[in-house]
Amino acid sequence: MRFDDVVAVVTGAASGIGQAAAEAIAALGGLVAAVDINLPGAEECAGRARDSGYRMHAYYVDVTEAHTVSELSEVVTRDLGPPRVLINTVGWDRIEPFLDNTPEYWEQIVDLNLLGPIRVTRAFLDGMIAGGGGAIVNVASDAGRVGSTGETVYAGAKGGVIAFTKSLAREMARHSIRVNCVCPGPTDTPLFRNQPQKMQDALQRAIPLGRLAQPREVADAIAFLASSRASFITGQVLSVSGGLTMAG
Ligand code: NAI
Repeated sequence: MRFDDVVAVVTGAASGIGQAAAEAIAALGGLVAAVDINLPGAEECAGRARDSGYRMHAYYVDVTEAHTVSELSEVVTRDLGPPRVLINTVGWDRIEPFLDNTPEYWEQIVDLNLLGPIRVTRAFLDGMIAGGGGAIVNVASDAGRVGSTGETVYAGAKGGVIAFTKSLAREMARHSIRVNCVCPGPTDTPLFRNQPQKMQDALQRAIPLGRLAQPREVADAIAFLASSRASFITGQVLSVSGGLTMAG
């Protein structure tokens, strides 16, 4: 599995799963744009990769700000060439009962988790189509497949990411662009470690494989779906959850 000379954009690359995905694709020969609102974090990731002999450059974006997203697409295409791989990893949540959620919170969650990947995808699609095709991997969540207490609006947004993935896969097939989705289960990242300890413990106990995922394990699934090894896979949802979710 190689990405030699493939330009790949990875959002959320300053931390957790996005960082691991950027590192995995760079280590397989990709020319990676490591993108994040936390530019110093993305620069650290890119610097480490370059120290290891890989090709990675950091860029700023706020996926909730449309103008930064279109600037990103212009700058990355100018600097590195048209991307053929896009990995949408940015996401965020705070555990809280739905009855306590404010409308401002709903909007924040949907704007970041659903409209964020929609904005980024739209900004890069024309270049991918003109370049003759590519692969998009959206990172959703098993919350979007099976629901999750205290994450109701987030689950709704992630369910939206799953449905967006499938419909876009249908529309983009004629352009040779594959679109797939990875649903992580509980994964050892800052996002998960910031959730209530009781919830962390309960989830960990419920995982058949008996532990959290490491970000690299989710990144490997992302890299596979983005690679030519998955050349006949599109519109699919792959859970990486240690067996926590086995819904059909
Ligand atoms: P993380 O919090 O470690 O990393 C998220 C990254 O997104 C950070 O670098 C952050 O700076 C960046 N970011 C946040 N807001 C941004 C914005 N407006 N614009 C640009 N960048 C922004 O999170 P983690 O755990 O790596 O999560 C990655 C994805 O996986 C998310 O979509 C999350 O919802 C999903 N996920 C994570 C699970 C877990 O247990 N860690 C479980 C299920 C899904």
